[in-house]
This record gives sequence, structure tokens and C-alpha cells, in this order.
Amino acid sequence: MKQYDIVIVGGGGAGLYAAMEILNTDISLNIAVISKIYPNRSHTSAAQGGANAALANKDKTDTIEKHIFDTIKGSDYLADQDAASILCEEAPRVIRELENLGTPFSRMDDGTIAQRPFGGASSPRCCYCADKTGHTILQTLYEQCLRLGVKFYNEYFLISIEENDGVCQGITALNIQSGEIEIFPAKIVILATGGYAKAYWNRSSNAAGNTGDGIAAALRAGVPLKDMEFVQFHPTGLRKSGLLVTEGARGEGGYLINKNGDRFMSNYAPEKMELGPRDLVSRSIETEINEGRGFDSTAGQYINLDLTHLGAELITKRLPQIRELSISFEGIDPIDEPIPIRPTAHYSMGGIDTDKTGRTIMKGLYAIGECACVSVHGANRLGGNSLLEILVFGKIAGHEAALEAKSLNSVSISNSIIDKHKKYFRSLMQPSQYERYGVIREEMGTTLAENVGIYRTEKNLIQAIYDIKKLIERFKRVKVNDTSTVFNTNLVNVLELRNMLNIALAISAGAYARKESRGSHSRTDYTKRDDVNFHKHTMFTLSDGNLDVSYKPVIMGKYELEERTY
Ligand code: FUM
Repeated sequence: MKQYDIVIVGGGGAGLYAAMEILNTDISLNIAVISKIYPNRSHTSAAQGGANAALANKDKTDTIEKHIFDTIKGSDYLADQDAASILCEEAPRVIRELENLGTPFSRMDDGTIAQRPFGGASSPRCCYCADKTGHTILQTLYEQCLRLGVKFYNEYFLISIEENDGVCQGITALNIQSGEIEIFPAKIVILATGGYAKAYWNRSSNAAGNTGDGIAAALRAGVPLKDMEFVQFHPTGLRKSGLLVTEGARGEGGYLINKNGDRFMSNYAPEKMELGPRDLVSRSIETEINEGRGFDSTAGQYINLDLTHLGAELITKRLPQIRELSISFEGIDPIDEPIPIRPTAHYSMGGIDTDKTGRTIMKGLYAIGECACVSVHGANRLGGNSLLEILVFGKIAGHEAALEAKSLNSVSISNSIIDKHKKYFRSLMQPSQYERYGVIREEMGTTLAENVGIYRTEKNLIQAIYDIKKLIERFKRVKVNDTSTVFNTNLVNVLELRNMLNIALAISAGAYARKESRGSHSRTDYTKRDDVNFHKHTMFTLSDGNLDVSYKPVIMGKYELEERTY
């Protein structure tokens, strides 16, 4: 059995940046990337709008300090101020590194990287490649990993993190192609498995694979999760599919219009209008719909995103993917007609609790990117800070792991673990099992969307917890109908559902316990932010199979708590 110095689970931007940085730090290290899908199909490719960095190309007055403040204010003061500062200070460096590696950024007339306005930002600082920024960054990083000789295991599903006495020993994974369970002993494991917004199932902008696999595996392995109740709803999902329509569309000048023809954001964010932060814009759209000012359709109520005044040239040059998606999924060409939109579950602010280097409490286990909660986004992430986070903390964790790996002892995982996992998989295929995973998954998505959405109340949250606990019980009788080994996607989907159910419970339990409104967590029964009782991070651990909720302090810095207005 091959031993690795470092195994990275996840082939998106965070994982690939970490892999590149590890080998740039020490080419002699023996590393592998293990990915559920082919890396260049990872969800990073769906990030359209861009990555923030205070380059001051478009607005000469922009500064790193302003970026830090915008991020902390945007987080509703739940971000750890030391982590947020690192994010913004490192931003220009990672963007320039990507530029040097060949990422085809859009350009200003003077040839510097173009920057567009994004929500909650005091300057136009979002660096972009038309509306395909994540896609181009992912390709750049993948090229670099191939150049450096990174070993990839594609189409492998993470089953569990293996540990001994609190020290990570590596992972076990299902080879989806062969059906074999394989062991990957590694001195260091870096989880980069992405977020959990797909728990909202078809009310989400996320790819089908964003099922929180690394987060749930960490929880099972005894590693705490943090701030799971903070789920970001992106204001502009396509009405029917929930697919993302980039904030860049509003950054380029798009309007949000209700059925009375009003640009209603003037009532909610008179200064920033459509470029308020996401939590505020999503709440505003939901309120317009709830109060009867949305448009009706058989596919549900919606609001219009109007780009028609931007003209064909701008739309085809800077928003080509939005045009394609709108034509394909709504039958609407945004050059001629407004796009029907509605908020969609988009991003996980919560995740695996880490320090500023990506380390978790388990020795040898790191987490980065959307699966981690290093606490740069707090209660609400600013658009353009997500791609940035994967770059900055992918790089930092990669570097740290490369330095640490040499000092660690070799590890071992007993082969008996394979039999344990096989036994569990066989148990799912027995005739006594009868529950259908698709039904449980649909009910989970429905209860989350209806009860733990943009607006939350005690009654709804109790309902969600009740529903999810029932679904967890029913999951014990879930059936894997496909008994074959090769490409058993039925088994993979069931294992993904197991992960999402744990996460759904954490989201709901955290939201129930947090009796205040902060950022994306908006309680209609506790409408105010309560800094006295809830200016703290929510922590989640498993004990005897039960989810425990506790709290830990937010790391403050020079920014005092203030009311948030836009
Ligand atoms: O709106 C967007 O393009 C999404 C960007 C992000 O989530 O940061």
C-alpha cells in the first residue's frame, strides 16, 4: 500500500492551489489529489463573477484596508478579524500569481486587470474573466498541477477520515469506477471538498455533487464544525432551475424590477441599490414576493433582472454565459427581455472549524475553501470573496502542509477498515431495506427550503428539526437497489444523502439556537442583531451520535461592532 506525504481530497480551486503550492515549496513531496469528479468539472468552474483584490486598477482610491472593512461589515461582524485581514492582504498577490500563470483576465483599456463593482464593496475591486472567472482559474491551476506532476485519483468518493489517537492517518475512498474500497495512508490530509448548499436540493445554485462530503466525514471523525446555520441565498438564481446569474450582471448595471415596474431596492438599500450585500438583496426580493409585488408564473413567483438597457455589445462581451444560461433554461434572451430570477441557496459560510493556516483540531488534518470555516465570511459572504478565499487559504495551507509533512511520523491504516465499510455497503443492499433515497432527498430539500430559508421562525425551525430527525430514522432503512460494483452511482448518491442529512440537522439546530438576526440568518421572531448574547460562533460536535451545539468567541480587531447600513 502506497504511503503519501499529503493527500488532498477535492480537485476544485482550493485543492489545486494547495497541490501547486505544496510542490512549489518542496517538489520531493509525495502527494495525490483525490476527486469525486474530474477536477476541471469542479464547482469552482461555476463561480462566474470574479475574485476581489484591492488592485486599484479601476478606482485609484481603493485600498486593502477598505477591502478588510467591507468584508467585516459584510459578515455582520461575525468574521474573525485576523483571518479577514489575511484574506484581503494576500489578495493582490494571488491574483497577480494567477495572472502570471496565464489566467485570461478581462482587461481595462490600459491593459491592467479589469475590475467590476460587486455587492457590499465600497470600490469596484472584483477581478474577472467575463462571466467565467472560476472556470478559467480552475483550468489555469489544473494545467499547473499537470506540469508539476500531481498524481490524480479521479472519480473516488471519500468514505471516511482515518485517525489513531487523535492523529490523522489518511482516508478511505470508494473507487467509483471499480467499486473497490481503497486506503490512502497520508501524514497530512487536506480536505477541499466544497460546500453544502445542495442540501436544499433543487432550490440551490449548486452542482449535484456539493453534498458536504468532507464536512460530514470530519464531523464523524470528531472534528468540530462551525457556523453551519449561515447559508447564503444568492439573490439571482434563474426562476426554474435556481442556476446562478452572476452578481456581475448587477455589477455591470442590471436592475431588479418588481411587477409594478419599480426598482424596489431604493426602499431597502438607497445608497447601494442592486449592489447591496447578498443577504440584504435576497431578503428584499423575498419581501417583494411575499408582499405580492412579484410576478406570477406556473414555475413560481419571481422578480425581473433587467439587462436590456446594457445593450447587446456589453452583454455578449462581459456576460456571455449569463445570456447562454438564460436562453437555455428560461427561453429568454436578456438582450431583448428581463431575466426571471429568485434567490437560490448558493454558499456555505459554515464548515469545518480551522485556524488561519487551515489546520483543524485533529493533528494532520487541514480543511480549506468552502468546506472550511476559517471565519472570513462570518454571517454573510461578500460576492467575489469566495474565489479569493480558495486561492489565499489554498496557498497558505499548501505551504504550511509542505513544511509540516517532513516532520511527521509515518502512518498506518489497517486493512480491516475495508471490511467494515464493505459490510455497511452490503447492509444497504439487503431486502429488508425499502426507503427510496430520492424521496428522502426531496423531503430534506423541501423542509430546508420551507423552514430554514431566507426568513426563519422558531415554529419553522422546530418543524425542520423534527422532519430531518425523522428522515435520519428513515435513512436507516434506505435501499441501494443497484448491487453492481462498476459505477454504482446509486450507492454514491445514498452516501451523499447520509452526509447531507447530518448537515441539514446542523443547519437547522444552529438556526434554532441562534435567537437573533445576523447576516444571512434572519429570524422574524428575533428581528434584531443581539451582540450581547450571540456575537459568537456556533460550534457543532457529535457525541454518542447526537449533535451538540456550543459556542466560541469571535476574534475581534480594530473594528468595533456597528449597525450595518447600505
Ligand atoms: O455572483 C457571482 O458571480 C458569484 C460569485 C460568488 O459567489 O462569489
